Amino acid sequence: MSDVAVVLEGITKSFGDVEALRGVDLTVPRGSVLGVLGPNGAGKTTAVRILATLLRPTSGTAYVEGHDVVRDAAAVRRLIGLTGQATALVDELTGRENLVMVGRLHHLPKTEAESRAAALLEQFDLVDAADRTAKTYSGGMRRRLDLAASLVGQPKVLFLDEPTTGLDPRSRIAMWDVIRDLVREGTTLLLTTQYLDEADELADNIVVFDRGKVIAEGTSDALKDRVGGDVVAFSVASAAAATQAVDAVANVGDGAPVVSGLDVSVAVGSRGSEALLDVVRRLDAAKVTVTGLGIRRPSLDDVFLALTGHVAEEESA
Ligand SMILES: Nc1ncnc2c1ncn2[C@@H]1O[C@H](COP(=O)(O)OP(=O)(O)OP(=O)(O)O)[C@@H](O)[C@H]1O
Ligand SMILES: [Mg+2]
Repeated sequence: MSDVAVVLEGITKSFGDVEALRGVDLTVPRGSVLGVLGPNGAGKTTAVRILATLLRPTSGTAYVEGHDVVRDAAAVRRLIGLTGQATALVDELTGRENLVMVGRLHHLPKTEAESRAAALLEQFDLVDAADRTAKTYSGGMRRRLDLAASLVGQPKVLFLDEPTTGLDPRSRIAMWDVIRDLVREGTTLLLTTQYLDEADELADNIVVFDRGKVIAEGTSDALKDRVGGDVVAFSVASAAAATQAVDAVANVGDGAPVVSGLDVSVAVGSRGSEALLDVVRRLDAAKVTVTGLGIRRPSLDDVFLALTGHVAEEESA
């Protein structure tokens, strides 16, 4: 098991009557990224807080780099970084002072804390703002400073609880780049997110939580396959053309083609490119003009909807 960085085994957690986690098992291979997806209240943050030794599980065991999070919490804390700890930032201190302070809390000598802070300010594009107080920072800058603070101790395992929630698209993409760099350096990462595209972009493996349980896991591709494979989709110019097209491609897919307005889609399982060629030949033979012809993969949104019966962000505030 030496290639495994994080393990949860049969973890439950109750808050009074609320069963936040109801028997969760998961593993994160060292150096990989696990994306934890789930609707509001699914138990994502609870799982992260247990791994970060901030909450004790009601039952079950959890290990980080082989250390039990309950019995060996101090060892776990030395190995991990966690963001979402807004309290770790002090508004009245500058970005640089915040990072130096965190370094001192990690018992780094003063000069080392200062050089570590300078390197992180550089890495997170905060050099220009380094000597302004944190309260003057934008949301994206705060998030970067928070992530930088979690990296002062050079964690082997990093927990990011919704690292880009509330950021504008540009800041999100910048944050993704930073996260990718960390993973390239070998950090093991567990990240929770409400954004399916974020999990798609960053995660090697995905687990889907719903009501305190893992209801699905696998790579993004494997999860998409579970929904039913590829779809060949195209558009036509008129209702008459749609009827003609449906007749022409009737036998290509699994089941009848689906027409929605002027859009036609054909479920083709794993035969994507072969079926696409077949569709093109038949439409050409039937002299139907089409636009926007292509293969569409099911999106993670389709997966989420199929698995949980609701869309991912419907409950978000
Ligand atoms: N300290 C607490 N006391 C009581 N109930 C709690 C506590 N923390 C979490 N819960 C409950 O446990 C359940 C899981 O919450 P959790 O915060 O882990 O969900 P989440 O998946 O992180 O949701 P979100 O996407 O909204 O962040 C919810 O029903 C929540 O109300
Ligand atoms: Mg949460």
